[in-house]
Amino acid sequence: MADRVVLVTGSTDGIGRHIARQLAAGGMRVLVHGRSKPKVDAALEALRGELPGAELDGVSFDLGRLSDVRRGVEQIGKLGAPQVLVNNAGIFATERAVTSDGLEMTFAVNHVGPFLLTELLASGLDRVVNVSSVAHTRGRIHFDDLTMANGWTGYAAYAQSKLANVMHAMELQHHHAGITAYSIHPGTVATKLLRAGFGPITGLKPEAAAPPIARLAAGDASEPTGTYFSDGVATPPASAARDDAARDRLWDVSRQLAKI
Ligand SMILES: NC(=O)c1ccc[n+]([C@@H]2O[C@H](COP(=O)([O-])OP(=O)(O)OC[C@H]3O[C@@H](n4cnc5c(N)ncnc54)[C@H](OP(=O)(O)O)[C@@H]3O)[C@@H](O)[C@H]2O)c1
Repeated sequence: MADRVVLVTGSTDGIGRHIARQLAAGGMRVLVHGRSKPKVDAALEALRGELPGAELDGVSFDLGRLSDVRRGVEQIGKLGAPQVLVNNAGIFATERAVTSDGLEMTFAVNHVGPFLLTELLASGLDRVVNVSSVAHTRGRIHFDDLTMANGWTGYAAYAQSKLANVMHAMELQHHHAGITAYSIHPGTVATKLLRAGFGPITGLKPEAAAPPIARLAAGDASEPTGTYFSDGVATPPASAARDDAARDRLWDVSRQLAKI
């Protein structure tokens, strides 16, 4: 495992922090990522304290800005390209916002940024894990209004982005044959994202939600590429994700939005 490098996006907090910890404890070299350098440095310091001898590095960039993702990939190139990418970072927005690239913020951070990141790293990757949500089953891709100028709600935007995560993992095989890709719902987990989206409801501790995701990232699963997991169990995704034409269309639209 020592020669395996994994990039875990959004590993300064919540579930991602524990995915990073578990993969580092298992002997992988982990690139800790967040949008703020001070938070990445703090997470690195804490992880180095908990896991003396672990191989850890940090990288910071905002997934909601395409130029920042490209700059981040340059930084990653200097640290050593990962074979494994865990697209974990995510937000649940409480107000509609449009990014400087003209994208709806939730779709930008949760799907378009990770899509661009995956494409830019794809030549070195053999495994991708997208942390999606059971909320994808309530989502639809608003192809005719992707910024959701009409009818935006935080939940509809989140569900659209999480459906895109599942579709992305399923579609990767048609574009990058060497990559095994999965998507996973981690359960209801007590994090700041949960509080932002759903208020003070109870959930799993983040450390309890991380093991099934870390297992997929470590290569311990034999399920076929594209499989969606719910709470660690292979599960059929929503019918919207099983629509081949919609996935093909989402791929093309994502390339355009990511300016690839
Ligand atoms: N919690 C749940 O119940 C639940 C359920 C289903 C799915 N999920 C999924 O699980 C994943 C992790 O969520 P979580 O609950 O652990 O949330 P969290 O505790 O809020 O952590 C989110 C991580 O993403 C980072 N991030 C946010 N916006 C970013 C941006 N623009 N650029 C780069 N990084 C950014 C955050 O950085 P900062 O530390 O700077 O904020 C943080 O490291 C998400 O994809 C979410 O959709 C969560």
